[in-house]
Amino acid sequence: MSIELMKENIARAQVEIDKKKAAVSEGTMRQKYHFMAEEGWLNDPNGLIFFKGKYHFFYQFNPYDSYWGSMHWGHAISDDMLHWEYLPVALAPSESYDNHPKGGCFSGSAIEHEGRLYLLYTASTNYGEGFVQNQCMAYSDDGINFYKSEKNPVISAPPTGYDSGNFRDPKVWKHADYFYLVCSAKKDDLGQALIYRSKNLEDWEFFNVLAESRGEFGYMWECPDFFPLKNATGEKYVLTFSPMGVKDRGNIYLVGEMNYDTGKFNYATVGSLDWGFDYYAAQSFVDHKGRRILVAWANGWDWMPWWKDWGPTFKEDWCGAFNLPREVILDEDNRLKFVPIHELQSIRKSPKNIQETAVTGKNGLLIPTENGNCFELKLTIDLASSTTDYFELKLRSNEVLSTIVTVDLRKQLLSVSRDNSDNWSQGTTKSNLLLEDKDTLMIHLFVDQSSVEIFTDEYKTCHSLNVFAGNNQNKNYVSVAEGTLVISELNTWELERTI
Ligand code: FRU
Repeated sequence: MSIELMKENIARAQVEIDKKKAAVSEGTMRQKYHFMAEEGWLNDPNGLIFFKGKYHFFYQFNPYDSYWGSMHWGHAISDDMLHWEYLPVALAPSESYDNHPKGGCFSGSAIEHEGRLYLLYTASTNYGEGFVQNQCMAYSDDGINFYKSEKNPVISAPPTGYDSGNFRDPKVWKHADYFYLVCSAKKDDLGQALIYRSKNLEDWEFFNVLAESRGEFGYMWECPDFFPLKNATGEKYVLTFSPMGVKDRGNIYLVGEMNYDTGKFNYATVGSLDWGFDYYAAQSFVDHKGRRILVAWANGWDWMPWWKDWGPTFKEDWCGAFNLPREVILDEDNRLKFVPIHELQSIRKSPKNIQETAVTGKNGLLIPTENGNCFELKLTIDLASSTTDYFELKLRSNEVLSTIVTVDLRKQLLSVSRDNSDNWSQGTTKSNLLLEDKDTLMIHLFVDQSSVEIFTDEYKTCHSLNVFAGNNQNKNYVSVAEGTLVISELNTWELERTI
């Protein structure tokens, strides 16, 4: 075991980070309050945990390029998930099982046990006959320096008949006497979530197929997560994953019942975490306040039907951000609500408020903001008093460009178009609106330098998209084609830079 090589590779990564980070932090497309790496490439959130008084976020990280390659685990800590202190890289490729330029330390999760922080991650390598993936463990007592287990890989292969190159992303939890993990696997070209159990986090036994695609959920499930949530009627389990091969869906959640005697999950509710183009590989954790927090990577992969590229930020030597952390709540109808963390309220500045306004015409209302580029908007529409069926929010606009959120009240459809956003992005995302029997519609949205996140339907419908709009795109409008839209209340805040 070459502890020395891992240390060397971490030190080498740090040299690269230190060389680039000052210039990268000046980048004009950098987010202002969304988590990013200091430089280089970032994808999935990994190992999210509240450990010894701090939030720890790890992330899939390539310090050497603004494109994917040779995966490391970057690491940062925070008191509020908005202001961050970067720590040294936690895991670097160093062993035969994870040291490969097109492999490395892939996604995984964290758990605390008897004061020690354990990471379960996927090692991906290629010995010459295709990629091989298996599950590994690393631990730390100080939450900074990590040691890979002598027993790695702790799960050396999937069960017989499974694809050994598609076996990854362990998410670990504890229930009663066992640790469990769920990970993704592929069999007969269909995606599955496998469940394993262990008494000590090192010796794992295959338990069952927790759930599987029969075609409707694609050929591979990346980054599965599995957790309990309670509502007024009791406890349910939620399985989330990022399916490959389901047209325009980047993420799915299922709500149902877990049977720990059999290792089977039976679900009745199917939903989407987010309908936007940029919400992938979500992972959750429970913090010290008891909240179930969900964080995702705000981007996607080249196999997705809508994919064009990862955006222009490579010109600034970085790529990738996380979406806003959200609290997950199980509603009475067993659907999930995704509420942006309340900590965001602590970075609000320059509040503006409008009440009881009737809006008509194209660009009928200029939304009051401080800078128009980086703000939060909360808008409540009085549906009962409005006479229009259709309105738009035109975001990050100048005379030529804008990102358009269309609300069609008759068709009960929400769509977000970035075809004319920035001369870069493309595509329109669509979802239903749950408007039955409602007198009001609330839309809550967050605009950062290079993203738009829209929450509506009492936080059950979300659209997250990257938009690389320039700073002169700072006008935001409510636009009404025919009739009148009655706004009962509108609030905006500028949001402080935290990162
Ligand atoms: C998801 C994913 C994971 C994998 C990681 C590699 O975005 O493809 O399945 O572990 O990224 O970086």
